[in-house]
Amino acid sequence: MAEGPAVVKVGGAVAGDGAAALADVGALWRRGIPVVVVHGGGPEITRWSERVGLPARFVAGLRYSDADTVAVAEMALARVGKALAFALTRSGVPAVSLGGRDAALLTAEPLVLGDEQGHPVDVGLVGRIAAVRVEVLGALLAAGLLPVVGPVAPAPDGTLYNVNADDAAADVAAAMGARALVLCTDVPGILVPGRSEPLARCDAARARALVAEGVISGGMRPKVQACLRAVAGGVGAAWIVDGRRGGVVEAALTGDASAGTAVVAAS
Ligand SMILES: Nc1ncnc2c1ncn2[C@@H]1O[C@H](COP(=O)(O)OP(=O)(O)O)[C@@H](O)[C@H]1O
Ligand SMILES: [Mg+2]
Repeated sequence: MAEGPAVVKVGGAVAGDGAAALADVGALWRRGIPVVVVHGGGPEITRWSERVGLPARFVAGLRYSDADTVAVAEMALARVGKALAFALTRSGVPAVSLGGRDAALLTAEPLVLGDEQGHPVDVGLVGRIAAVRVEVLGALLAAGLLPVVGPVAPAPDGTLYNVNADDAAADVAAAMGARALVLCTDVPGILVPGRSEPLARCDAARARALVAEGVISGGMRPKVQACLRAVAGGVGAAWIVDGRRGGVVEAALTGDASAGTAVVAAS
């Protein structure tokens, strides 16, 4: 098994009742495996956006973000991050929540998206990660503190971008030479019609076909793309698992096929 940390992404959909995924993270940590948590906050961002009169709109599975949406996202993600760090800390795993602006942890750049015909798709201030200051995460881990990362990040000119948490987790994992990327969500893995079990494995070609057929849609699209990018970037393994189920993060790290879907470059 590779030496780097496990990067565990906790989806907004499970962050609220992410007890199972967090318990798994705690179990790994107690076994001496370094872990970095990256989190989303979809429902919390939507809730606060609506409260301030900003309706949520999704384009290609990504939240369309104007400057106010990014501001609300940074606030909502901070709340989610603090709650996760607090829950971990109370369970005996001292954790620190930080965003892209803290110690310049993450630098963003605009995400340029095209549709099938190659026409540009406007997603507003949605970014992708241009750089990760891995030494910040390394220093926290070396001090015995588990980093909890929320993915709003500044570009070099200071403009803030909203980065999809799956994407950010993939970049953090690649930058850290992670042993594994585990995306915890609210489904058991990649589901396909006519099967009750998720795919045990999915490679790049299959993923492309499933996206084209519309079987992989919405929030699953960035997940699959993030996993493919992570494995291409040298991460040991990339998994999509059900974060509401106990033991799945540990199962994924041991390569147990029942953990969820393992995304592989080619099979
Ligand atoms: N083929 C698929 N298999 C499983 N889930 C899918 C698939 N296609 C789309 N989805 C959707 O992706 C969602 C997970 O993404 P998302 O809602 O962004 O959650 P998270 O907060 O964990 O990022 C699932 O709840 C499901 O509705
Ligand atoms: Mg999502």
